[in-house]
Amino acid sequence: MSDHAPNQASSGQAPQDLTAGAAALTATFAKELEDVRASRSPEAVETLRVAWLGRKGKVTALTEGLRHCPKDERPAAGRAVNVLKQRVETDVQALKSEAQTWAIDAKLTAAPLDISLPVEALEPQGSLHPVTLMRRELLGEFRRLGFTVYDGPEIDYELYNFNALNIPAHHPARDMQDTFYLKEQPGLLLRTHTSNIQIHAMLNERPPLRLVAPGRVFRCDSDPTHTPMFHQIEAFVVDRGISFAHMKGVIDAFMKAVFGSNMKTRLRPSFFPFVEPGAEMDLMCTQCGGKGCRLCKHTGWLEVGGCGMIHPNVFESVDYDSEAYQGFAFGFGIDRMAMLKYRLTDLRELFEGNAPFLGQFPVFS
Ligand code: FA5
Repeated sequence: MSDHAPNQASSGQAPQDLTAGAAALTATFAKELEDVRASRSPEAVETLRVAWLGRKGKVTALTEGLRHCPKDERPAAGRAVNVLKQRVETDVQALKSEAQTWAIDAKLTAAPLDISLPVEALEPQGSLHPVTLMRRELLGEFRRLGFTVYDGPEIDYELYNFNALNIPAHHPARDMQDTFYLKEQPGLLLRTHTSNIQIHAMLNERPPLRLVAPGRVFRCDSDPTHTPMFHQIEAFVVDRGISFAHMKGVIDAFMKAVFGSNMKTRLRPSFFPFVEPGAEMDLMCTQCGGKGCRLCKHTGWLEVGGCGMIHPNVFESVDYDSEAYQGFAFGFGIDRMAMLKYRLTDLRELFEGNAPFLGQFPVFS
């Protein structure tokens, strides 16, 4: 039976032809339905619906054909046509729902919409200077240990940089820090260390103090491990009942936080006029892990700074009761720490403005 069966039916065919026509159209419809499904076209679903259920559709024509059926044949023919009609209606409805997902899928698989604007983001972004990265990391650890950041002048009076720190004029200890003085401004100098902040802070604040002060310092120095401008970070605590053991504990916890829990620290007796007792702080060599190499001159250790218990004379110079209060202080080179962390061999590279060298460091730590 051909696809034209319903048209023949509408022009007055025998009922058995109508029944057979309905059966044949069921197969035709099944095939068309699969074709439309394969096309995944929502428009084809509508075309299918019109072709079968529309005013001039195949099912409609078949239904109209029933009018020409003899009365006694009509129930059987009617049932056959109805079965076809329901099948077509149900399948077209189901296909319509399916077609909604085809439309969504088509949008999702189409070329994605680029909502970004091509701006300078494609240009090189620069990176943070290793000293900045190191300073940020150090300050982060000090904050975690409960320290507050304190700032102070880079150009300062001798009084703060030396005298109040128990280094009077003409004291041989001044030779340890070859200093830039300001020619036209007697008494003013470029600070040689961040220990000047101890004096500013103690004059401005009352104990208990738990402060950390990073900043630039200056000395007339230049070799692979010394630059004329460098960075130090000073940390000090003033309170009642503070001991050398507290200082040792803070230094060790702090260095482990920055360099990892395997890091070892060591204190060696040393002299700084503003502390008593005083010590040099050594870190286990990051290059050889303490075994000994060229960088650590085969000792396994690298010096990073000085430390000690704040000298009673310093407390007296800021009018603190040296019987009631104790304190510890330590200061170390941020650049040296960066050198160890990033395994640099010449400190001077940090300040030569060499873009390819500096570009190796990340934008964020
Ligand atoms: C001092 O500057 C003391 N103020 C440290 C201190 C603070 C001792 C508190 C006691 C209590 P020193 O001169 O050793 O100490 O310098 C400390 C560190 O600064 C050195 O270990 C080194 O890491 C760094 N440093 C010193 N000179 C230079 C330089 N020219 N270039 C780069 N880093 C330097």
